[in-house]
Amino acid sequence: MANLGTSYMGLELDNPFIVGSSGLTRTPAGVEAAAEAGAGAVVLKSLFEEQIRLEYAETTASLAESVHPEALAYLQADIAGRFGPRDYLEVVKKASAAVSIPVIASVNCTSSESWIEFAGQVEKAGAAALELNIYVLATDPQVKSGQVDQVYLDIVSQVTERVTMPVAVKLAPYITNLPRLCSKLVERGASGLVLFNRLFSPDIDVDKEEVCGGISLSHPSEHRMALRWVALLSEILDVDICGSRGVHDGEATVKMLLAGACSVQMTSALFSKKLKHLGTVKEELCAWMDERGYEDIDTFRGRLAEDPANTNLFQRAQYIKAFVGVG
Ligand SMILES: Cc1cc2nc3c(=O)[nH]c(=O)nc-3n(C[C@H](O)[C@H](O)[C@H](O)COP(=O)(O)O)c2cc1C
Repeated sequence: MANLGTSYMGLELDNPFIVGSSGLTRTPAGVEAAAEAGAGAVVLKSLFEEQIRLEYAETTASLAESVHPEALAYLQADIAGRFGPRDYLEVVKKASAAVSIPVIASVNCTSSESWIEFAGQVEKAGAAALELNIYVLATDPQVKSGQVDQVYLDIVSQVTERVTMPVAVKLAPYITNLPRLCSKLVERGASGLVLFNRLFSPDIDVDKEEVCGGISLSHPSEHRMALRWVALLSEILDVDICGSRGVHDGEATVKMLLAGACSVQMTSALFSKKLKHLGTVKEELCAWMDERGYEDIDTFRGRLAEDPANTNLFQRAQYIKAFVGVG
């Protein structure tokens, strides 16, 4: 039987299937269930930067009433390092102690504010790595694209300066020049890229004539957006890539690995088919490898990204009749 082991950001995983950050991984019990179901690793539900800043602000406000202003500045610098949402740290601690698979913490961030000190606490609590879920929604026409990119770079620089654990950046696909931003993120110390996140999308209820929202799960066809970028970036960047979004089965996993990913993340498929689906996808990957005599993942990982002819195909954005038969 094929060996499904893989290395992701220096973490040794029994298999490439990582349970993505979501309600499935909110509690230590959820993490244990994922490990029992056969996950290679888990990413905890994200702690939101706003939650960290709120707790920080509340503590600072109560201190401001009792402490001399000069002393307050010193205390403020220290507070961010010592206090964070304790519940989250407790989850990191308990989950990491309860399972033998890597537990990756996650912070959802949009700025490089004082919350960054919290990354150090997450590391101390036992997280194997940290995934930064960064998305800056640019809505101000006065802000230049470079300024938006700089936010990503500042966050990653500051976090990687504070921790020794590997740091992954989970990106949404809506970036003007993804290869440049990713290469700069790697320069700033990112060890992994998670391609891609799937963002909350507002909707409109036409009966009520109201803006609405809600959880929407991915469709399996969505994996093709990530596939292109996994293939293109794995060839040019020295970084571990995790294929994410629309990975619902063993076949999509094989595609991500052939394109150069080290691992994949699954969320929607596990919501709809439950954690037991991990057993099925592992069997599907194993069967595909056994059929071809591949003993381990490294034997075929990245095989379809290496050939320049394939690079041309991954770089193609417009349909042409000769190639796809329509257009
Ligand atoms: C209900 C739900 C909650 C999620 N919460 C988070 C979160 O807290 N942090 C995060 O980085 N991604 C979150 N995600 C995004 C998923 O981790 C994943 O990146 C996305 O759903 C795409 O993968 P999929 O196609 O396998 O679902 C959430 C997704 C869902 C469906």
